[in-house]
Amino acid sequence: MVTLVAEANDPFASDVVQATILPALATGLALASASCALMVTALTSGRMRWRRLHLFAGPATMLALAVAVVFTEQLVRSFTFPAEEMRIHLFCAKSAGFLALPVIVTGVFLWRWPRLRKLHLVCVLTFVGMALVATATGVWVFSLATPK
Ligand code: HEM
Repeated sequence: MVTLVAEANDPFASDVVQATILPALATGLALASASCALMVTALTSGRMRWRRLHLFAGPATMLALAVAVVFTEQLVRSFTFPAEEMRIHLFCAKSAGFLALPVIVTGVFLWRWPRLRKLHLVCVLTFVGMALVATATGVWVFSLATPK
């Protein structure tokens, strides 16, 4: 039944969650899964020296992670987070973003100079470690968030 009211009223909070936040979380989960699959492919193809596959999977991993970060930034606007916990997460996320640069640089130079292989591996492992910490702290702050 439809009733006329004096002023337009806001939808129920539960409707907002169902209509806007749940689909966004599903998209975020799909992006995170694609990034994980690409990262595992990049790690395996690099180790196995499957160069052609690696030169696709390495850059694709970085691209997928960048898309996931941009998407998460938009999702974050629908929530309120505790400030201190968010500060810790942002430090880890920014560090992971910064550590992606040496992976790309050593990867590009490794093409010509095979001696950089160990250095690339060290950069990759440092980056993957920090990306895992950033993901864990990201899940942690989301568990403490409240929808706006
Ligand atoms: C722009 C990005 C990247 C470029 C241009 C690049 C390039 C390369 C190249 C040329 C090799 C040597 C492959 C061979 O010997 O045939 C290599 C090895 C490797 N890459 Fe990458 N890579 C990139 C990103 C990544 C990423 C994102 C990961 C993992 C998350 C990764 C993990 C590895 C590993 C584990 C090795 C083997 C190192 C070793 O066994 O010592 N790379 N990479």
